[in-house]
Amino acid sequence: PLQLSNSYLILPGFVDIHVHFRDWGLAYKETLMGGARSALAGGVVAVGDMPNTKPHIRTAELYRRRMEEGSRLPIIYRLHMGVPEDVGELHAAKPRSVKIYPEDVERYGWGHVEAVGRACAELGCLLVFHCEDPAYFRGGDRPPEAELACVERAWAVARRTGTRIHLTHVTLPQTAELSRGWATVDVTPHHLLLDRENCRHRGLCHVNPRLRTPELRRGLLAALAAGMIDVYATDHAPHTLEEKNSGDPPPGICSLDVALSLLLSLWRAGVVDLGDVVRLYSCRPSRLLGVDVGIERGLFTVVKLEEFVVRGGEFAGSCLHTPFEGFRAFGRVVATAVGGRVYFSNGEVYDISPHVDRA
Ligand code: DOR
Ligand code: ZN
Ligand code: ZN
Repeated sequence: PLQLSNSYLILPGFVDIHVHFRDWGLAYKETLMGGARSALAGGVVAVGDMPNTKPHIRTAELYRRRMEEGSRLPIIYRLHMGVPEDVGELHAAKPRSVKIYPEDVERYGWGHVEAVGRACAELGCLLVFHCEDPAYFRGGDRPPEAELACVERAWAVARRTGTRIHLTHVTLPQTAELSRGWATVDVTPHHLLLDRENCRHRGLCHVNPRLRTPELRRGLLAALAAGMIDVYATDHAPHTLEEKNSGDPPPGICSLDVALSLLLSLWRAGVVDLGDVVRLYSCRPSRLLGVDVGIERGLFTVVKLEEFVVRGGEFAGSCLHTPFEGFRAFGRVVATAVGGRVYFSNGEVYDISPHVDRA
């Protein structure tokens, strides 16, 4: 039986393949260092950052510049490149992965996505889909059918180009089934734990893809419990509290500081076991990003097995609000080490010198 008081776990470093660290023209929402601080506080030692920065990372030059800035962080930094207008930019940048947005489909069409897939097959990179077909968006709504239609399109791209495909933040149990054999999938803490009924704050609960019905959410939890989900990832997407409280709030949820604890809560609730936690948020994502985060490499996270209440105001990064406010989470991160150096302990990030990363 689980001993709850004074019990600690030493776990391998955790890896989040889907974060938005903003900076550049959106530094007022979050900075690269702010994002890294959230990661360390959450026991996360490596991240895959998204390219929808301002400007969007669609060229080899921007890709190189961002990677250089990321390499100065105290965590391991990876970057998903944006869809370039000219696929030659992919050959110049040689990214490990490319992120496809519904906006890219709207802008360039599925034919161009297939051309990107072909280039990726040659380069050995991974196509990461935010899988919602914009043809199914209607009057501001983004229904579940948009996800299913995109999965079918992505399958066609996989079949025709032979490239590796990952579907990120999937929201439907059906997607987990349909992707079997040709794509890997991840789910977010918010699509697992929040739905249209239990998340009430208009701004803080607004996210793309949208929160679903309680029935679909329970289906997603069941898919996770059945081992049909490959990876857990936050889609940590900061906006200011002012923006989230406005009449037209932008989509995006902050959860990087507490994502591991939320997953450990699912362990405590019996939805997953501890091996699943490590597979979903460390082993498999580390393989997708091509990083090695084993304890023997000095990358590890110490967790204290106690319950605590989530308070956005106590987060360590730039974003201090979350729809998980008030949640009873289990498993507090008490230390995070990268490359043998402890960067986070006693509730504080106290060392921000760069992690030396020989990628
Ligand atoms: O909710 C979302 N926020 N979904 C996205 O696809 C983008 C993200 C953001 O960058 O804010
Ligand atoms: Zn997305
Ligand atoms: Zn995202």
